[in-house]
Amino acid sequence: MLNFFKSDRKVNSHDNNRIEIDMNRIPEHIAIIMDGNGRWAKAKNLPRAMGHKAGVETIRRVIKEGDKLGVKYMTFYAFSTENWKRPKEEVSALMKLLVQYLRQEIGELDANGVLINVLGDLSRLPRECIDEIKRAKERTKNNTGIVMNFALNYGGRDEIIRATKEVAAAVEKGEIAIDDIDGRTIEKYLYTANMPDPDIIIRPSGEQRLSNFLLWQCAYSEFWYSNINWPDFTEKDLRMAIYDFQNRDRRFGGIK
Ligand code: IPE
Ligand code: IPE
Ligand code: MG
Repeated sequence: MLNFFKSDRKVNSHDNNRIEIDMNRIPEHIAIIMDGNGRWAKAKNLPRAMGHKAGVETIRRVIKEGDKLGVKYMTFYAFSTENWKRPKEEVSALMKLLVQYLRQEIGELDANGVLINVLGDLSRLPRECIDEIKRAKERTKNNTGIVMNFALNYGGRDEIIRATKEVAAAVEKGEIAIDDIDGRTIEKYLYTANMPDPDIIIRPSGEQRLSNFLLWQCAYSEFWYSNINWPDFTEKDLRMAIYDFQNRDRRFGGIK
């Protein structure tokens, strides 16, 4: 069956090449699974690393657009706890790209008030990477603009396991009683402590799965998928995702 409402609004927004976003209802937190770099490169007969390089350009565009629109938090899934399974050369190319990105962009990001933050276990990353991240975090820590989170060596399950251990330790020390453990107790120990849950999770490249991203935080996130690969993702796609989000009916389990 055709869903006229759905197809109608898509046509409206795409064909006019003008996406009418309600600037009063901009999502606070947008999280992106940056996927499809490898396929983008393959389709052009380029090495996978070139796809990752092109993907970095997309980050530049998208963070600017998000900031311009007034998004408060943007989270970029850059490396999962499972991505270590990839060939060593690819892993090290990805780590180098991150270092390069931070070195090249930190000035402009900082000048624009961007606060850089990392979600994930940094301890396993190469020294150079850890140092560059520390520098970027330190330099931007007092900024009050958009928060840019890099999910790096991040896994949703790993994050929940860590939080569980911390809570258990607090119980053991007598700092908290088992009966007092609630959602807020857990959240305090997540990498996203004090941040709002993502309103939208964007995944390009055609895959429709979470791949261990923000398992706790996405309980009521709206998902937005697209077939384009991350290097081809544009400002317009971000606006499209926001436009669609603004037309969703979020009920959080309640009724209207
Ligand atoms: C996303 O692109 C980048 C990372 C996972 C680091 P991929 O490298 O997964 O690209 P595909 O999925 O192989 O096309
Ligand atoms: C998810 O993409 C991780 C990142 C984008 C960093 P993957 O390409 O690793 O996910 P799967 O393997 O297709 O699920
Ligand atoms: Mg992939």
